[in-house]
Amino acid sequence: MVYNDKKDYVVKLCKKVKIINNINSIVRGTGKYLPDFTVDNKVFEQIVDTSDEWIVSHTGISERRIEQEKGNFEMMGEAAKEALKNANISPLEIDMIIAATVTSDYGWPSAGCLIQNYIGADNAVSFDISAACAGSIFAIDMADLYIKSGRMKNVLVVAGEILSRSVNFLDRSNCILFGDGAGAIVLSAEENNAEDMRRGVLTSYIMGDCDNDKPLAVYATSRKTTRIFDETTREFLGNAENTHGYMQMNGRAVYQFAVRTVPKIIDEVLTRADMTISDIKYIIAHQANKRILDSIIERYNLAPEKMPMNIDRYANMSSSTVPILLHELVEGNKIQKGDVIILTGFGSGLVFGANVIRW
Ligand code: ACO
Repeated sequence: MVYNDKKDYVVKLCKKVKIINNINSIVRGTGKYLPDFTVDNKVFEQIVDTSDEWIVSHTGISERRIEQEKGNFEMMGEAAKEALKNANISPLEIDMIIAATVTSDYGWPSAGCLIQNYIGADNAVSFDISAACAGSIFAIDMADLYIKSGRMKNVLVVAGEILSRSVNFLDRSNCILFGDGAGAIVLSAEENNAEDMRRGVLTSYIMGDCDNDKPLAVYATSRKTTRIFDETTREFLGNAENTHGYMQMNGRAVYQFAVRTVPKIIDEVLTRADMTISDIKYIIAHQANKRILDSIIERYNLAPEKMPMNIDRYANMSSSTVPILLHELVEGNKIQKGDVIILTGFGSGLVFGANVIRW
């Protein structure tokens, strides 16, 4: 898109994304935590009927990290500490912690509260959101809205998953897909000079297409898994499939949904930001399957470097894939001031969304 001058661009952009004040929500720092313990595909050959060749060719995954010691909130807390350090901000300056996770250590209290205590963010309010692999996208949108409303100045978004404790390692159709890890982002308010281009979060889009078939689910205390008291034997009976707490997934349904939906999400945020794909430096997409990411490259005829990936090293870490990949790009000096990036994710619900951010 060509604009006559910068001001023209700013006016048009602000109109399009309905920015109503002069506050930007900028990414001030990022961080990650990955367990040291690495498990390659060969290990799975000893557990289930699979092969390194099948896993690599169907998913792009070569290895993943598995946490042996820490709880999820401690992984998330470590990622948060690194993000705070990189943002050069004290935990006491954080007003709000939004934790995105579907593998919280406790039913309650929230992961957010555990992280708040872990990092000593004594002046914050904390809570969780449950949006599976779109969790960090939803959390960034929420943080942006709180910041732009003027109610919060510094918001910590932390996403973390300990999926190794949620998959059934005897189920080859999904145990090979997942890994553990956490990513964090500090978003802060910044006054925007009317002469300058807006930066930080420019726009977001979040949406759900939730049906009863549940192609991706963990049955916790649902009727499907709750133990029933048998009056004859006077015993509690477990559910027949013994699926309590384990992930259930119709991989093909999720795959087809993702290939169909991710381009729609990207088109929607591009429209909202009044941009085209050529304005975008990177699409940082949820790392669920390399074939899904390749289909996006093909759909937009992208140069492969515009769609960075780390799924080969870490597998699918649900909500944390996007902030971890973002942090790796930041750490590698791959994102420069003025670059525009799209973050996008989709997951159980099914829910999906994207954020457009100018650095
Ligand atoms: N090793 C060897 N064979 C396997 C394995 C395995 N690990 N898993 C399945 N197979 C077999 C199946 O049994 C089937 O055999 P059959 O033809 O004899 O019946 C065959 O491989 C093909 O199975 P499909 O399920 O059709 O394989 P597909 O090509 O669809 O790949 C996969 C499966 C990798 C799960 C793919 O569907 C996928 O990636 N889906 C998306 C999953 C996803 O993104 N989930 C998470 C999204 S949301 C979130 O991140 C929480």
